[in-house]
Amino acid sequence: MEKMLITGGQRLEGVVSVSGGKNTAVAIIPAALLSDEPCVIENLPDINDVHVLIQMLTELGATVEFEDGVMRVDPRGVSCWQVPQRLSHRMRASSYLLGALLGRFGRAEVPLPGGCDIGPRPVDQHIKAMRALGAQVEERFGVIHARAPEGMVGGDVFLDIVTVGGTINAMLAACRARGNTVIYNAAKEPHVVDLANFLNSMGARIKGAGTDIIRVRGQERLHGSTYAVIPDQIETGTLMIAAAASHGDVTITGCIPTHMEALSAKLLEMGAKVDEKDDAIRVRSIGAHRAVNIKTQVYPGFPTDLQQPMTALLTTAKGTSLVTENIYEQRYKHLAEMQRMGSHVRVMDRVAIIEGVPGLSAAPVYASDLRAGAALVIAGLMAEGVTEIGNTHFIDRGYEHLETKLSFLGAKITRAQMEI
Ligand code: EPZ
Repeated sequence: MEKMLITGGQRLEGVVSVSGGKNTAVAIIPAALLSDEPCVIENLPDINDVHVLIQMLTELGATVEFEDGVMRVDPRGVSCWQVPQRLSHRMRASSYLLGALLGRFGRAEVPLPGGCDIGPRPVDQHIKAMRALGAQVEERFGVIHARAPEGMVGGDVFLDIVTVGGTINAMLAACRARGNTVIYNAAKEPHVVDLANFLNSMGARIKGAGTDIIRVRGQERLHGSTYAVIPDQIETGTLMIAAAASHGDVTITGCIPTHMEALSAKLLEMGAKVDEKDDAIRVRSIGAHRAVNIKTQVYPGFPTDLQQPMTALLTTAKGTSLVTENIYEQRYKHLAEMQRMGSHVRVMDRVAIIEGVPGLSAAPVYASDLRAGAALVIAGLMAEGVTEIGNTHFIDRGYEHLETKLSFLGAKITRAQMEI
């Protein structure tokens, strides 16, 4: 078990490039199973979630090679549709194998997925979508058993709530189904669009991704493809927040600024300077930050995945910030840890009331999930003294070389073994 040690108070300065998107990667890798030929996926982040998916695909019978961010997936050897329990509890995206295996083989057994502990994360909408496309689905002993003996059949999928995972699973199951599918109330997140682009590059016919109605014309076969995943929206945002937190001057390259509008607007409101170019964002911050109010929303609203790093920044902003977490019930666990660092925060149901303090002081803290880990890194950058963050494996699930990137910008971050 490792811990991260951050000596706060260092100004971040310079240029840093963003890695390929985690949430895109974990949808596109299972999607490669829908092809009849090998696929090459480029710009993948070297993170634990990607390695868990490699293990899953390999155990299903695929041949997977991964080097320098490039993965070759040959799905021709896949003969098994039972996803191993010991791997699926490690990530939410294991649920994408439901749509991918059903779409390919008309059969899937997928344990209920794991993932970050941020409140209840049901999959009822995923199951509803599979049923709408002709699958018989039962949940027994924590495993989803699904089969469509005659193959999947296109249909209308009405999602009761906007769900990224439900939309992705519906697209996966629909693209080789017989006939046409329409997904209503679809999620519009950048990774939904990126997955549709990947599937279309394999010969799928998907229109409307990025709007709330997605139309899929089912194809009998899909062919191999070479495709590069989009840059990570949440890593970009985390680096932007880190720049502001350190009162630094950082240019993040290789990103998509239009994906960042909700965060850029809030940083500007707080008094930071944000300059956007075609594929780069520069964040500068000199004076004290002002408090702001935030409500997390589905895209293009403020992303829940940046709520945690952003609330860390707000703990030192002048005034009172109100943050409303509308997507997950328990995504404030980092704030309890940060109270040990001198922050003044009260959480009432889904609202965090943050009274800005002039500064934080270092303390030993523990990450409870991936973005809580990122939030504690932001807090560590701002705090006086050496912050020790335990449970770094959560951070490694989703950030590629975070401390190397921050160290390159001037942060003082090291790792050490936890004392037992
Ligand atoms: C994706 O999770 C992301 N994960 C999450 O990122 C992200 O927080 C979330 O989308 C929202 O943007 C991946 O892409 C792997 P949802 P997902 O289905 O698909 C409820 C991170 O830090 N819901 O859009 O699981 C659900 O409980 C992670 O990178 C149902 O009720 O999110 C939640 O309240 C964490 N029934 C809301 O919908 C369902 O069947 C949105 O969830 C499905 C979801």
